[in-house]
Amino acid sequence: MSPESEAVVSVWAVESDGVNTPGGERVSSAGGDPLRAKYAITGRFYDVLDHPFERMYRRWRPELLQDLRGEVLEPGVGTGHNLQFYHPSVHVTGVDLSPVMLRRAQAKLGHVRCAVDLRVDDATRLDSVHSDHFDWIFSTFMCCVMPDELQPKALKQFARVLKPDGRFRLLEIVYSSEPTIRKWQERISTLVERIYGARFDRETLQHLKQEPSLRVTATRYLKWESYLVIDGIAV
Ligand SMILES: C[S@@+](CC[C@H](N)C(=O)[O-])C[C@H]1O[C@@H](n2cnc3c(N)ncnc32)[C@H](O)[C@@H]1O
Repeated sequence: MSPESEAVVSVWAVESDGVNTPGGERVSSAGGDPLRAKYAITGRFYDVLDHPFERMYRRWRPELLQDLRGEVLEPGVGTGHNLQFYHPSVHVTGVDLSPVMLRRAQAKLGHVRCAVDLRVDDATRLDSVHSDHFDWIFSTFMCCVMPDELQPKALKQFARVLKPDGRFRLLEIVYSSEPTIRKWQERISTLVERIYGARFDRETLQHLKQEPSLRVTATRYLKWESYLVIDGIAV
């Protein structure tokens, strides 16, 4: 943390096998949720596994975040790869299903310049989050992990917690329209799903178009017609 920053960090006590909420409730790393159970294992190796890709992503993250201000919700904050790039004036609430991932994020807080609040929560519920509270929702590689049947629920929650005119930006990976890339993606798809729970065929854009309280304003690819940025606004 830089000396001039006023970072306020509040983290629920995240430990190796779970998390103690401020109310004293114990949440285990595995829980009953298959994704939480997956990330109880994957979370231990996530930064190492993802390192070759993260070399590319870390060039994109600062640009994707540069115009974000105010109250920001980052669902699926994971091991906190975005946290160091937020503007010092931002207040970030990072939520994730996985206490193991959050523990890794907690370890990175020394490098953040802004106020951060990390907590275990499910993006399809956002029980810990007030309505109409956020100026922005920013999320990277969460919806490609989230099963399609759960995405409408998560998007309803996004609409609930965004302020009127609040904005969202998502970075997701999808099947490429470039044949060589697509072939490579098909080859690794089983492994990717087994390790990360991620799929290249999630229909996030379709789900967004069907959520009446959110409007997609722009889409663009960062690379290979596969790394898709979706911008939008609460209506
Ligand atoms: C592929 S990782 C991405 C992590 C981070 N955003 C990044 O860019 O490196 C996906 C993350 O989403 C989280 N996740 C998946 N479904 C979730 C849900 N319903 N609510 C909260 N977090 C979720 C996982 O636990 C995991 O940490």
